[in-house]
Amino acid sequence: MSRACLGSKTAIPGPSGLPVLGLVFAFTGSLTHRVLDKISQSFKAAQLMAFSIGLTRFIISSNPETAKEILSSSAFADRPVKESAYELLFHRAMGFNPYGEYWRNLRRISANHLFSPKRIASFGQFRRMIGIEMIKEIMGSMEKNGEVEVKRVLHLGSLNNVMMSVFGKCYDFSENEDGSELEGLVSEGYKLLGIFNWSDHFPVMGWLDLQGVRTRCRELVARVNVFVEKIIAEHRLKRTENEGVVDESSGDFVDVLLDLEKENRLSDSDMIAVLWEMIFRGTDTVAILLELAPFGAGRRVCPGKAIGLATVQLWLAQLLQNFKWVASENGVDLSECLKLSLEMKRLLVYKTVPRVC
Ligand code: HEM
Repeated sequence: MSRACLGSKTAIPGPSGLPVLGLVFAFTGSLTHRVLDKISQSFKAAQLMAFSIGLTRFIISSNPETAKEILSSSAFADRPVKESAYELLFHRAMGFNPYGEYWRNLRRISANHLFSPKRIASFGQFRRMIGIEMIKEIMGSMEKNGEVEVKRVLHLGSLNNVMMSVFGKCYDFSENEDGSELEGLVSEGYKLLGIFNWSDHFPVMGWLDLQGVRTRCRELVARVNVFVEKIIAEHRLKRTENEGVVDESSGDFVDVLLDLEKENRLSDSDMIAVLWEMIFRGTDTVAILLELAPFGAGRRVCPGKAIGLATVQLWLAQLLQNFKWVASENGVDLSECLKLSLEMKRLLVYKTVPRVC
């Protein structure tokens, strides 16, 4: 939780950090959560701890009960919009949109249309097919390399899965130009949102864009716009050819938004932002959850939780049913690394033995 300029006199304990810079050093490594936990212990500030970075005041909790209270309270339902999130259009999508009418409308569309039980079930066959493709990919990797980089297989599987739900398209990422363009867009977005951006906390440095975050975000958004606009145009054309008839349960997210376009007054740029966020949010979260990970809680709880769990449970069952998993010579290293999400620091590499011939 960060609140700009709450004022310096506060009863909440915490370190004052370096003059002007504050606690900036805690955020430059990859284990920020561990560093903050240690500091909170030394200040006996598990319930609440306050500190600053430049002009931003942070208040954090290391206590599950307090964290739950904060997450459920409408007073804390806004997310601070980092420069990268703003530039990448996420302020027009759900994740960084202020708690208000537009955000509530998107949550309603998500609950009633995008992630309704009927729609989640309608993608079931496709999820199973991707699981089978991943099994083939694992067998191929064992034949070629004698081991499997689990994250790579899961990442491509997740990307295709979310592409099908959102755009109704399936890609071969090794051969298809659109597929590798999309993979590039998502991974550049992850890098940009995960960067500790000095401009967020030191506005004077903002206009200099020393880390090049703003420039890279703008370049990325231009590519995202072209990519998503083309897909929306293809859907519009198909709907004109079919005289607007789309099977309600089998349509993808683009169809849902086009159906609701007038009723919800979503402009094309709103739709691009919402669709892009879904692709972005639904890709690595699924891959990471199979290795570690969470869904958040309270008002901002993940709206894709049900589809995420349906996917993770099915793929886990398929992968365990088809293979015995044996750790490679280096064993399993559970060291973590905090990027946009908490990830494993070293790639999970396994050998697999087929259970059935
Ligand atoms: C299984 C894997 C998934 C995990 C572990 C996960 C986790 C999360 C977490 C931790 C949050 C943040 C909650 C907060 O800000 O307090 C979140 C938000 C969100 N997730 Fe997921 N997610 C998953 C799958 C998905 C999928 C498949 C989609 C969409 C296709 C999705 C869309 C979103 C959106 C739009 C938000 C923003 C909600 C808001 O701020 O109102 N997620 N997710």
